Amino acid sequence: MSTIAIIGAGPGMGLAIARTFGSRGFDVALIARTKDRLDGLVEQLGTEGITAAGFAADVLDRPSLTAALEAARARFGSIDVLEYSPAPHSPVPGFTQAVPSEATVENLQPQIEYTFYGAVEAARAVLPAMREAGAGTLLFTTGGGSIDPVPMLGNVNAAGGALRNWVLNLNKELAGSGVYAGHVAINVWIGQGGPEGFPTATPEQIAPLYWELHEARDRAEAVFNA
Ligand SMILES: NC(=O)c1ccc[n+]([C@@H]2O[C@H](COP(=O)([O-])OP(=O)(O)OC[C@H]3O[C@@H](n4cnc5c(N)ncnc54)[C@H](OP(=O)(O)O)[C@@H]3O)[C@@H](O)[C@H]2O)c1
Repeated sequence: MSTIAIIGAGPGMGLAIARTFGSRGFDVALIARTKDRLDGLVEQLGTEGITAAGFAADVLDRPSLTAALEAARARFGSIDVLEYSPAPHSPVPGFTQAVPSEATVENLQPQIEYTFYGAVEAARAVLPAMREAGAGTLLFTTGGGSIDPVPMLGNVNAAGGALRNWVLNLNKELAGSGVYAGHVAINVWIGQGGPEGFPTATPEQIAPLYWELHEARDRAEAVFNA
């Protein structure tokens, strides 16, 4: 049995990606900060015949992240696919949006820690075993602004752009190793409540793209457009 570890597993993309891989025979390790909420998702997936387990960790607390991935590996035997897409659903102290000219080390640093450093740490935790096995998939999610930035999200997009650049390069480095790295840019508002006129899509519409990348392994990046 193969296992996917989803970092930043909530009721939106996390659950949809869990269903996409779980319905194709994967066990699922769900990682986020709130164990109660993870347990709810695990129960829900269980009713759908998908084996899942929750592991609490904060991507900003990197030792907790590596410990959660280690616990997931101990529980399921291996991590074959890693997917990284944390998203705060409520305001986080220290997180602000800044246009490029208002970007500072202070308002960039938390975005970089969250979006980029957490992803790098997660990959480093699973990559050695994947390399040894000569197999594995690493998938990382950002918004469309990592490719085509919008001024309102100057600091947020810079962090997403850094992650994207690193993933594209990791994909090149890993070519021929059996391990595949890919970037997904979601260029829509997910679910309801987005800005007027902005394209939207449901997590269920977006999640199959992750399976397509995992299966095809033929491009470093995919953009989801409505
Ligand atoms: N929402 C959009 O419109 C939109 C648009 C473009 C791209 N995206 C991308 O889509 C992904 C998120 O999709 P979603 O909102 O549907 O996700 P989701 O799976 O519904 O939720 C993400 C989960 O991340 C967890 N999280 C937040 N902060 C964390 C932290 N510090 N450490 C660990 N886990 C943390 C939260 O759970 P806890 O609170 O329990 O930790 C939350 O439930 C992100 O990659 C985002 O960049 C979103």
